[in-house]
Amino acid sequence: MARVAIIPGDGIGVEVVREAVRVLEVVAPRHGLDLELTSWELGAERYLREGVTISEEEFRSLAEEHDAILLGALGDPRVPGNEPARDILLGLRFRLDLYVNFRPSRLLDPGLCPLRRVPAIDIEIFRENTEGLYVNMGGSFKRGTPDEVAVQEDVNTRKGVERILRAAFDHARSRGRERVTMVDKANAMPAAGGLWRRTLEEVAHSYPDIEAEALYVDTVAMDLVRRPERYQVIVTCNLFGDILSDLAAGLTGGLGLAPSANLHPGRHALFEPVHGSAPDIAGRGVANPLGAIACVGLLLEHLGADAAAAEVRQAVTDSVREGPRTPDLGGSGTTAEVGGWVAGALRDASSGPSLQHGDD
Ligand code: NAD
Ligand code: IPM
Ligand code: MN
Repeated sequence: MARVAIIPGDGIGVEVVREAVRVLEVVAPRHGLDLELTSWELGAERYLREGVTISEEEFRSLAEEHDAILLGALGDPRVPGNEPARDILLGLRFRLDLYVNFRPSRLLDPGLCPLRRVPAIDIEIFRENTEGLYVNMGGSFKRGTPDEVAVQEDVNTRKGVERILRAAFDHARSRGRERVTMVDKANAMPAAGGLWRRTLEEVAHSYPDIEAEALYVDTVAMDLVRRPERYQVIVTCNLFGDILSDLAAGLTGGLGLAPSANLHPGRHALFEPVHGSAPDIAGRGVANPLGAIACVGLLLEHLGADAAAAEVRQAVTDSVREGPRTPDLGGSGTTAEVGGWVAGALRDASSGPSLQHGDD
């Protein structure tokens, strides 16, 4: 039996996770998977009510008593300090040492690409998830005065850089990918860039079958728009990975479709859509649940249920091509209609490669 913690979180996180769970509850039994889902009320409501983001006991249980976590989003305009996201999302990433943030962006339908010339896009970003500018080292001085000074340190360790590079190369090799692109800003930030580039050179020696390149982040931001088809696996630091994964999502249908996995391979795993709580559309029932549903695919893969994961991936693709669409994809469907369509497709799934969809 596998135990999965469900943290819907805030805003549309709650809406999209409801659909993801619905899909998981259809697909798991069909594949003989025994899952125990536990629901966790963590986020802005709890914080506003009790002043608590996550207790030590809750943290311990998530860490020790669960095989995976599925999280919606954290962020609420009523909590401008963003304490729940800091303690829960970033807290889990740092404290569980989830050093791989895997963010795939594949173009599922040509009509979703905003570019005039539509190439095939299949980019997998390996974002370093425990270091960089996110460690929040530094501080401010003379705060609130005209002389204010703010220092935010960019922390890069040899071990941290090496392990994310190895994760990217291992993945590239296992998926038959030909090229890994390391993205940095070594021209302006030579200390961090030097470490990443020297480590890349060493690590790449162990993978002679894979082409390794190092490019600057500004160049890649431009080139991703110009010729995204040349990018396969991208590996980069925490901040650049955050930004480039939104860009890659934008090229393939937007944030509503993008899933991610936060991993410490062999130990812990947390799955979440790349998007946030979207206060601008929260509560209206129109958020796209497909990013969260695609997370179910990644979660099933993590649990070793490859066939179930492939079915979910296929159902998401079919849904984009044939099913109702939410407004972000140009449709007028609701979150529940899209989730219902995918769940129906999976319920009716034949053993063949393509799925039939149901009537709901
Ligand atoms: P956002 O991702 O919430 O929204 C950006 C834009 O994309 C909005 O216009 C939104 O309506 C749209 N969008 C996002 N997801 C969508 C979906 N599933 N379907 C349709 N449209 C969708 O980013 P933001 O507005 O910068 O941030 C809002 C809050 O979420 C902030 O508090 C932020 O810190 C937080 N946030 C949390 C996470 C997370 O928990 N993983 C990620 C990003 C942002
Ligand atoms: C993401 C989000 C988070 C990040 C925020 C909410 C701290 O944007 O998961 O991409 O920057 O990592
Ligand atoms: Mn982000």
